[in-house]
Amino acid sequence: MILSIIVAIAKYNEIGKKNDLLWNLPADMKHFRETTRGHAVIMGQKTFESLAKDENGRQVGRLLPNRRNIILTLEKTFKADGAEIVYSEEELVNLLDKTTMPDEEVFVIGGGMIYKLMIEKAEKLYITHVDAEFKDAEIFFPEIDQNIWQKVKSEKHLKDDLNKYDLEFAEYIRKN
Ligand SMILES: NC(=O)c1ccc[n+]([C@@H]2O[C@H](COP(=O)([O-])OP(=O)(O)OC[C@H]3O[C@@H](n4cnc5c(N)ncnc54)[C@H](OP(=O)(O)O)[C@@H]3O)[C@@H](O)[C@H]2O)c1
Repeated sequence: MILSIIVAIAKYNEIGKKNDLLWNLPADMKHFRETTRGHAVIMGQKTFESLAKDENGRQVGRLLPNRRNIILTLEKTFKADGAEIVYSEEELVNLLDKTTMPDEEVFVIGGGMIYKLMIEKAEKLYITHVDAEFKDAEIFFPEIDQNIWQKVKSEKHLKDDLNKYDLEFAEYIRKN
């Protein structure tokens, strides 16, 4: 299995606040969909809940379609129909070892706690650099250590009517 991380980060590694994203960037959503489609995605319970709201604005969660959804939680009673639930990093690693092919890419999709937990195990980072800063951010991505990670791909997307900020879709692999 190849463990990858996918995330959108602002200038100071800001990724979220109030259990939501800091922006609405359809170009990044498309990039996320296209990159993760058909793969297993791993997320924390909070990120799962952030994916959908009911009519009262309450976060209710939803499965990401066309992907195998794996959710990490510490809450033993947590349920999400159609998702696989794991209660520890060890359980996650065991599940992936048993159920993935050696060359299969799986994606860690957030949020802050789960990125922190998994970055040391990741082989590849798909980082959308958002050219903006958010003073009110509450959740951050870990520092991308340039001694460890080498940028191997970069594609710019300039701001437009739908996307308020310039974006860079970058890929990093571990240096040897
Ligand atoms: N910019 C981006 O690309 C991006 C992507 C994803 C998410 N986000 C943002 O990130 C924020 C959410 O991040 P977050 O750090 O608050 O939460 P999170 O990482 O999504 O989920 C945290 C939850 O995961 C569970 N967990 C943590 N460590 C665990 C372990 N070792 N074993 C089992 N379960 C474990 C816990 O569940 P319980 O305590 O609930 O049981 C914990 O509350 C939101 O603002 C979201 O919008 C941003």
